[in-house]
Order: sequence, then structure tokens, then C-alpha cells
Amino acid sequence: MASLTTERLLLCPYTKADLDDLMSLCSDPLVQPLVIHDDVAPRSPKFRDRLHLSMERAAFAVIIRLRSTGEFMGQAMITVTNTKKFLEGSFAICLLPRFWNNGYGTEATHYMVDYSFRWFDLQKISLMVLSSNLRAITVYQKIGFRIEGRKWRFRWMSGRWDDIFLMCIPYEEWAARESQWTLGADAIYHHIRPCSLCSPVFRPHYYLHSDYYQ
Ligand SMILES: CC(C)(COP(=O)(O)OP(=O)(O)OC[C@H]1O[C@@H](n2cnc3c(N)ncnc32)[C@H](O)[C@@H]1OP(=O)(O)O)[C@@H](O)C(=O)NCCC(=O)NCCS
Repeated sequence: MASLTTERLLLCPYTKADLDDLMSLCSDPLVQPLVIHDDVAPRSPKFRDRLHLSMERAAFAVIIRLRSTGEFMGQAMITVTNTKKFLEGSFAICLLPRFWNNGYGTEATHYMVDYSFRWFDLQKISLMVLSSNLRAITVYQKIGFRIEGRKWRFRWMSGRWDDIFLMCIPYEEWAARESQWTLGADAIYHHIRPCSLCSPVFRPHYYLHSDYYQ
């Protein structure tokens, strides 16, 4: 599969050659405490194997690169699980700190969520985020995720307990938000969306597929 493109990003297929970059990303002292699935400890060779497996097993795993330079920025993935009632996606994203706060996370998350609802027949996309990770929570809420639960005292962080928020966006809510925009309700769109997503790159996409959500 060729790379997917957003306005400023390349979403590239993962290969083993990306593992060194991924290890550096996951070992970054600013990133490591925010990635909830692991202890904050030096990464072992076993971790490298796990990283490779998780990228391979995900339904949709991408290496995120800056479109203008091809530079490695981070990774994102959707893992699909069958709940026996419906298919549910589980989302995760991670960027190197020097790329934070430029709208890239929102741009990539929006694309990944939209793509996954289109192609994987998901009823819901979920994620877990530390309650202190306000940057990530802001991104997810801008996309339309809402908090559906809280696990108290999930991790001891910098001398205090941190909780975990379980967040989700059901298919119906995503479709409603996107169709409002497709129908040209720009006032509503601007109210709930960041400006970075109002860029023309997303518009033809939705106009072309305006029958998708009907
Ligand atoms: C989470 C992550 C993907 C977000 O990507 P990003 O490119 O930094 O995010 P964006 O620039 O698109 O958006 C950040 C938003 O958070 C806001 N923000 C930043 N710091 C904030 C804070 N302390 N409190 C509240 N909001 C904050 C920004 O103002 C921006 O919102 P705005 O566009 O409405 O102004 C990225 O920061 C990252 O990879 N972090 C490390 C790994 C991680 O936390 N992954 C998620 C684990 S669940």
C-alpha cells in the first residue's frame, strides 16, 4: 500500500526498518511516561519485539512523516477487536516532542478515525489516556471522543497517582458530526473543529463521499 497523505503529513506503511526510530520515540523521556501500556523503565530488546508485533498486528498502523521533508515524526495505529456484538477499534498515537502543539496530532487522528470508520466496519473507536495528559485529551475531544469511564489510581507518576480516562466515539456520533459538515453547516463545524481541520484538503474528500453516511 502506498503512503496516505493529509495536508502536511505522510502516513506510511510500517516496515522493520522503522524500528530504530520507534524505539527512540518510545524511549524519549517526555514520551515514555505518557504511553500507558508500559512501565516507565529502560527499554529491553524484548520491547523491540513487542513493538514490532503490535505494529504488524494492528489493522491499520502507520509511521507518520512530515510531508515536506519525509522526516520521521511518530506512529499511530488502530487495532480491531471483535466484541462478539460488533467490531471495535482501539486507537493510539505518539509523536516526537519537537512536533507537539502544531496541529499534527489532530490532523493524523482525524484522518485515522475517518479512514477506520470507512474501511473496517467499526461501531466504535476507543482509547485510553492518562487524566494528566491534557494535550492528548484536548485533541481527542476536538475530534469528538468523549469520556466513558475512569480508572482510578492507574499509575504512580511524579509522586502522585494518575487516573486513566476511557474515551470513545461511536460510529453514529462520528457520522453525525461529519455529515453536518458535509452538508455545509460550517458554523457548526467551526464551533466543534479546530481550524487545522478546516483546511481544503479534507473538503473534497467529504464532498466526494457525501453519500457515504446517508
Ligand atoms: C498527544 C499528541 C499526539 C497530540 O499531538 P499534537 O500534535 O501535540 O496535538 P495538536 O497540536 O494537534 O493539539 C494539541 C492541543 O492541545 C492543546 N494543549 C496543549 N497543551 C495543553 C495543556 N497543557 N492543557 C490543555 N490543552 C493543551 C493545544 O492548545 C492544542 O489545542 P488547540 O489546537 O485547540 O489549540 C502528541 O502530543 C503526543 O504524541 N504526545 C506524546 C504521546 C501521547 O501522549 N500519546 C497519547 C497517549 S493516549
